[in-house]
Amino acid sequence: MIPPRQAITATQETSMTSPRTMAGADARAAARIAAPRWALVAVALGAILSSAHAASLPGSPDPLVPTGRWSANSDGSAPVPPMGWNSWNAFNSDVDEEKVLASAQALVDTKLATLGYRYVNIDDGWWLKRRQPDGRMMIRTSHFPSARTGANPSFRPLTDRLHAMGLKAGIYSDIGRNSCGQIYTPDFKNQPEGSVAEREVGLYGHVDEDIRLYFAEWNFDFIKVDGCGARGLAADAPRVRSGLYRALPPLVDMQSLAASDVAGIRRLYAAVGTALRTHAGQRPYVYSLCLWGAGDVRTWGKDVGNMSRTSDDIQPSWARMLTNLDTVTHRALYAHPGSWNDPDMLFVGTGDFDAAHPVEARAHFALWAMLNAPLIIGYDLRKLTPDQLAIFGNADIVALNQDAAGNQAVLAYDSDDAQIFVKTLADGSKGVAVVNRTAQPVKAVLTAAQLKMTAQGDVRLRDLWSKTERTFRGETALTLAPHETLVFRATGTHRLAGGVYLSEQPGRVNPAVDGIARPTPDPTIHRSITPWTGTRGPGDHPQYGGWGGAEADRAPYGAPIRIAGTAFDTGIGVLANARLEVRNQGSARFTARVGVNDSAPSRAGKVVFEIWGDGRLLARSKPMAFGDAAAPIEARVAGVGIVELVARGDAEGMASPAIWADAALLR
Ligand code: GAL
Repeated sequence: MIPPRQAITATQETSMTSPRTMAGADARAAARIAAPRWALVAVALGAILSSAHAASLPGSPDPLVPTGRWSANSDGSAPVPPMGWNSWNAFNSDVDEEKVLASAQALVDTKLATLGYRYVNIDDGWWLKRRQPDGRMMIRTSHFPSARTGANPSFRPLTDRLHAMGLKAGIYSDIGRNSCGQIYTPDFKNQPEGSVAEREVGLYGHVDEDIRLYFAEWNFDFIKVDGCGARGLAADAPRVRSGLYRALPPLVDMQSLAASDVAGIRRLYAAVGTALRTHAGQRPYVYSLCLWGAGDVRTWGKDVGNMSRTSDDIQPSWARMLTNLDTVTHRALYAHPGSWNDPDMLFVGTGDFDAAHPVEARAHFALWAMLNAPLIIGYDLRKLTPDQLAIFGNADIVALNQDAAGNQAVLAYDSDDAQIFVKTLADGSKGVAVVNRTAQPVKAVLTAAQLKMTAQGDVRLRDLWSKTERTFRGETALTLAPHETLVFRATGTHRLAGGVYLSEQPGRVNPAVDGIARPTPDPTIHRSITPWTGTRGPGDHPQYGGWGGAEADRAPYGAPIRIAGTAFDTGIGVLANARLEVRNQGSARFTARVGVNDSAPSRAGKVVFEIWGDGRLLARSKPMAFGDAAAPIEARVAGVGIVELVARGDAEGMASPAIWADAALLR
């Protein structure tokens, strides 16, 4: 059992949280352990009272009532996943202007910039202090000499320079008063200096003035907002008790959703969004949320920011890469133009992905591209080898990531050993990744059905690494080397004449309400040995509570779609009491077959399925019970902008897996 915080002495905590080798979030694991019990109870009560599940509260609006609008975030500018470079994985907090400019120059010289790698983002380590009494943020000018612009140091010369190079500039802050390094790794380089107030460099209490400074005055284009300050400064934390920092009652607890104030942390991040809308003016900006999947960010991150971290920090290890990958795998429907899942930055170039491991490096890169992760390089580009450049610079693979349709790849085949991901591109062709997660060779079979193509026609596969082509009918056998990911672009005859399946268009489907009443962590996430705790304690427990959400081509909880004994290989599965918003781009008809999935935990309850168009009811099913054969439902949606698919359960059917099988938009 984990000892309560009171039992950990200050000395123990210091030794647990300050090994030099740990990355910023690393040592946090130790401090994640527990808040005092009274705090847990108090925050838990708050969380219950402010629960987002308004449907159950008398007098609150019914979230299943269609609104006729798209509610996921579309502010800011991220129509495709942002690409660029960030200082953290390469330099940790030891960042300076020379390193930033050298990386920027390398992006230009290698032509990676013209491929789309435009954001040059400064992470933790740039700040010196918050000046008193006016509160203006001071830059560590010893490390950023061009910021010595007189009484008010400014990043403007640096951002001007980056802009002149055709690049964009990113900055980093924290949602609390203090930074990750201050709280968890105090021996990190470049810690803020001065009095308690001067060391409060985070946004808390300064959102408007800081965002104005960073965007209106310093002209940044991108901000990553970390969450450590809202996590580690409970009143009884040794660093608070010692007078080093002010207490901030924790809003997020990595180990406990009940102990997190979900509404409270969301409000803070939303306030930053409001300030960005005000101070970025007409300039495009990107708002990157860094809450590591905690605070139930899975339900609201897509509504607040342009990209949202789904996991704790990636490490340069194969196992950790799998962990981070797994946090986005079942979440294709939660990523759209303007709001992307972020499994963290690329570690290509380092450790298990270094020059001696090209197979692993290619796999990591291809998977991030397919899953629509922001492609943010975390490598010291001054050391880039031609082979590594060929990875970041693979234009065919970058094109999968930057495809205008914005569809995250959908899991077509799943096992602990091999996976197949398929991504529908704007021109109707498919990106395909066949993944060997193991250290042994794997034999895999790829089928035309997994690509939603006819078995009778030729399917052409172009290997995006070797550029070789092959053709198959029905299915093809592939052999994968240990840790290899094969990536193809596939063309063939689509199985559905005159339309697309909805599951092929996850970028156009937003689970505004996904029916999850009690979020639970996703048990399919690979549980790696974390470098920050090793095998001490009970083991890693990924907190990303996405399990049971809406899925493409699956029922909730990853189950295959089967209604009254009939299997379907396509459709959208969601728990009852859900509302999906669908952007309609000129289709005339929506059709599906609806029912309760055979994976339902009980036979109780009924689900009614409704199709709405721009806020008007177009079709409604009869109440569907477990064991009822799938019922056809359809509606004319010509001229409709937002189609909404509502699945409403009665009291007993609330958590039933409700399936829109064969859901399709037809011309
Ligand atoms: C972590 C974050 C990392 C990095 C680090 C800086 O919380 O996940 O990506 O920004 O803080 O201290």
